[in-house]
Amino acid sequence: MKTIFSGIQPSGTITIGNYIGAMKQFVELQHEYNCYFCIVDQHAITVPQDRLELRKNIRSLAALYLAVGIDPNKATLFIQSEVPAHAQAGWMLQCISYIGELERMTQFKDKSAGKEAVSAGLLTYPPLMAADILLYNTDLVPVGEDQKQHLELTRDLAERFNKKYNNIFTIPEVRIPKVGARIMSLQDPTKKMSKSDPNQKAFITLLDDPKQIEKKIKSAVTDSEGIIKFDKDNKPGISNLLTIYSILTNKPIAEIEEKYEGKGYGEFKADLAQVVINTLTPIQQKYYELMESSELDEILDQGAEKANYVANKMLKKMENAMGLGRKRK
Ligand code: TYM
Repeated sequence: MKTIFSGIQPSGTITIGNYIGAMKQFVELQHEYNCYFCIVDQHAITVPQDRLELRKNIRSLAALYLAVGIDPNKATLFIQSEVPAHAQAGWMLQCISYIGELERMTQFKDKSAGKEAVSAGLLTYPPLMAADILLYNTDLVPVGEDQKQHLELTRDLAERFNKKYNNIFTIPEVRIPKVGARIMSLQDPTKKMSKSDPNQKAFITLLDDPKQIEKKIKSAVTDSEGIIKFDKDNKPGISNLLTIYSILTNKPIAEIEEKYEGKGYGEFKADLAQVVINTLTPIQQKYYELMESSELDEILDQGAEKANYVANKMLKKMENAMGLGRKRK
C-alpha cells in the first residue's frame, strides 16, 4: 500500500479553503492509502503565536480532522512536536539546503514582505516540511496549489541527499486537486483565502455559525454584471463562489450555471450559504462532541506512538548516512 503524508498548521481555525483544497481529499484517500495526517505546530511558531491560543488551536484542529471524517483506525493522526524526529531530520535537511533556494520560496517572500523582524524559522520552514514528508517513505502528498513549490523543494532535497549520502529517501509526488486547489478570499477574489487574513469577512471557518456564514457570503465581492457564469479572469468572485458550490454539492459547474440562468446574485448567494451551512452543520456537531470526550487524547497518543516508531527508523538511517553519532545497528 502506498503512503500519504500531509499536514495543516494550527494557526487559527481552518477555513473552507483548507477543507476543500486538502482535508476533503484526505477523507477520500484514507481508504486507499497508508495515511499520516499531522498537526504541524512547529511550523505554526515560525510566526508569533499566543501560547494559550496555540494550545487551543492544536486540540481544535485534531477534533476537526476527526469531525470531517478522518478515521483513526485507518489513518495516523498526530502532533508534529510530539515526534521529535521531525525537528532532528529538519535540522539535517537545513544543512543541505541553500539559503538562496529558501529565499526564493514565494511563501517566505509573502510572509516576510514589509516585516522588520523575520524569524530564521520562517526561512527554514521548507526543510522542516521536507522532513515531515521524507521521514515516512511518503509516495504522495495531497495539498492545495500554494504548497506546490515547497513540494518541489522537498523532491530536490530528497534527491540531493540520496545522491550525496545514501539512497534512502522515496521521492514523493505532489497531488493537487483539479478543482478547488486555490479557494479565493471572499473580499478580494484575486487573493488566496487564508486563515490568517486580518479581515474576518475574507474567509469562512469550519466553526462559523449559520448567521456568520450567511453574512460573509452575502458580502462576498463579485461584479456588477449580474450573470452567474464561470470566468476566472473576468469574474473571479463569482467563479470562486461557483467552485465552492460545485465542490460542496458534487455538481458540475455547468449544471449550476444552468440552474441560475436569468437569476440574480442575491438568490445564488443565499443558496450557496445554505449549501455551506448544510456541509458544516454535521461537522460542527461531531466536533463539539469530540471536544468534550477523552477520545481525542487517546487517538493523539496512539498516533504519536506509531509516528515515533516509523519516523525514528528513518532518522537512524539519515544519521548513519551523514555519519552522525556512533555506529549503531
Ligand atoms: P496550511 O496550514 O497553510 O494549509 C493546509 C492545507 O490547506 C491548503 N490550502 C488551501 N487549499 C485551497 N484553497 C485555499 N485557499 C487554501 N489555503 C490552504 C494548503 O495547500 C494545505 O494543503 N506548509 C503547509 C503545512 C505542512 C505540510 C507538511 C503539508 C507542513 N508540513 C507536509 C504537507 C506535507 C501549510 O502551511 O499548510
